[in-house]
Amino acid sequence: MDNFLKAKNILKKYNQEHLLNFYNELDDVQKEFLLNQILRIDFKQIFDLYEASKIDEVIPCNLIEPLHYFDKTKMTCDEVNMYTQIGEEYIKRCEFAVVTMAGGQGTRLGYKGPKGTFELDIVPKKSLFEILCDNLKKANKKYNVTIPWYIMTSIYNDESTKQFFKDKNFFGYPKDSIKFFSQSQLPLIDINGNLILEETYKIKEASNGNGDVFESLKRHNIIQDMKNKNIKWIFFSGVDNVILDIVDPVFIGITADSNTLISSKTLLKKDVNAPDWIFARRNGKPAIINSSHLNDDMKIAKDENGYDLYREINMLAHLFNISAIEFIANRNFPYHRAFKKNTFVNDEGMKQIPESPNTFKFETFIFDAFSYFDDMILLRVKDDDEFAPIKDFNGPHNPEIAKDMYLNKFS
Ligand code: UTP
Repeated sequence: MDNFLKAKNILKKYNQEHLLNFYNELDDVQKEFLLNQILRIDFKQIFDLYEASKIDEVIPCNLIEPLHYFDKTKMTCDEVNMYTQIGEEYIKRCEFAVVTMAGGQGTRLGYKGPKGTFELDIVPKKSLFEILCDNLKKANKKYNVTIPWYIMTSIYNDESTKQFFKDKNFFGYPKDSIKFFSQSQLPLIDINGNLILEETYKIKEASNGNGDVFESLKRHNIIQDMKNKNIKWIFFSGVDNVILDIVDPVFIGITADSNTLISSKTLLKKDVNAPDWIFARRNGKPAIINSSHLNDDMKIAKDENGYDLYREINMLAHLFNISAIEFIANRNFPYHRAFKKNTFVNDEGMKQIPESPNTFKFETFIFDAFSYFDDMILLRVKDDDEFAPIKDFNGPHNPEIAKDMYLNKFS
């Protein structure tokens, strides 16, 4: 059977024949592209995910317990010095690496191009990638090392990200120490349960969430690369937080000293009634849970030393031991459904930019890794010190606020 018939049969089975609406108008290259895409996509997987996501699956929280945190601002000088020394030893022995997850779509910011190329309006202007690179260069100089930097991209921004680094001469970073790796993707589904076209010859797909990072590291042989380099601790963060300390010896030191394999930096949840997700132990395992699982007393509960029990929120800053990464790279993470704004080709073959979210995206989250472990360390830091992400132009995480916080910290 030729590819056209094969593709047609698949689409018929899943009621998606509209994807071939413009087939007769395509040139040969476009026709081949579309057919190959249809044959590659796992329609069963995407429709299973879609059907499953209609049921509001709530993970049962039979037992919720607090997860202890260390507060960086309350540490004594001796403690800070001790953890710094432990962490610095790992950095100086070249046993520390950084992974930047830059495969997201950045739909809320709506910026054309990889989000890491978005420039902060300072003098001189600096892209988010350059800001991360500055952090690494500063640490390299201080410790006389070159920290390996792994950057996760998606099929959509891989080429443009690499080109951007080339154009900027890798910001002066030793270019052999930067490795790009592309994550996987899944098709998007509209509110009628249909896949959408991005071009008349192309089905719209998007990266499948930052939880794919471990599998992607494995697929691209990067875990092996890290092991060959004898790397022990790997820091994971996103691309958009302009004041995050990505090379933080205290964070490495406190994690290594605690004999745990994973840790996260956290922020204090200020409004106890806000619907944020918080760190807790769920059914005995570390997790991030919806605060609706907490009653009013739990929301404000403290331990005998005055430490909050349930107020640590996630800021996407995690440290993993290499053995933890190896272990979870072989696990299947659950998919979550997000509702996002995505341009599509309408019935007339015209591109249409929606005004509000119009498509379901299926994503795995890096924080779902935590429950595979018995314990983890949390290190609470202050928002002003380490949390200024850029998410959109109008909300609390906009470029203007991020710029002010950046200037406050660095000038
Ligand atoms: P966000 O959840 O903020 O998503 O990602 P986003 O893609 O940047 O923006 P929106 O939600 O579409 O507006 C947090 C970090 O995780 C990365 C992002 O690039 C960002 O650095 N990420 C997200 C990935 O690397 N891959 C993904 O599939 C999703």
